[in-house]
Amino acid sequence: MHVKLDSLKEKGFAILRDYDGPPVPKEEWESLEYMDWKSGGDTNFAPIASAFGEMECRGFWDHGKADKDGIWTQNAEKCPTLVQWTKNVGANFGRVRIIKLNPNTEAEAIHNLHLDDNNRLNPDGEGWVVRVWLELSNDPNTYMILREDKDDPSTESRISMLKNRQLIIDSQRLWHAAWHPGPEPRYALIVSFESSEALHRWIESQAPTTSGVR
Ligand SMILES: [Fe+2]
Repeated sequence: MHVKLDSLKEKGFAILRDYDGPPVPKEEWESLEYMDWKSGGDTNFAPIASAFGEMECRGFWDHGKADKDGIWTQNAEKCPTLVQWTKNVGANFGRVRIIKLNPNTEAEAIHNLHLDDNNRLNPDGEGWVVRVWLELSNDPNTYMILREDKDDPSTESRISMLKNRQLIIDSQRLWHAAWHPGPEPRYALIVSFESSEALHRWIESQAPTTSGVR
């Protein structure tokens, strides 16, 4: 058994207040080095923290680690605002990455629904690893599709991914994929965080609301 957050108990996700800190310059996601890494569609990922600071996207378990205690990569030097955003949460973080998602269709997104593997090698009694999304590009027509049951649309929530959206998801519990009509690629920061008192306090400070769910 792992320590889990009460705030995610009922639905498995929470929409937080929009990010309202210093604006993130476009260069902080456009000038990074991306790796060819497929997850949830036609994607590339820019690793900002990895298991041992190398420029790679593999799960930390490949290195004998749980998805915690991430180490900054050389990309981190190019995105100080995003590094600061991650540090400001105050919780133990693992993978810190930017996803670049090329356009897809609704049918493809539903086909891409998947669960993340966030807790492999995470010892019993420690905090359950969940993920936070920070939307970087402005994609009002893009939706994060979440389902409790992959094959049951009645368990679905759709969340519009406007710029600065902050969204926390127990992505090992909820099936998820983004439907992104395009035409430009979509960018978002995704960070693995360990559930803890510190993460709880950050969530409280971000005043969760329910706007954006349709
Ligand atoms: Fe995922």
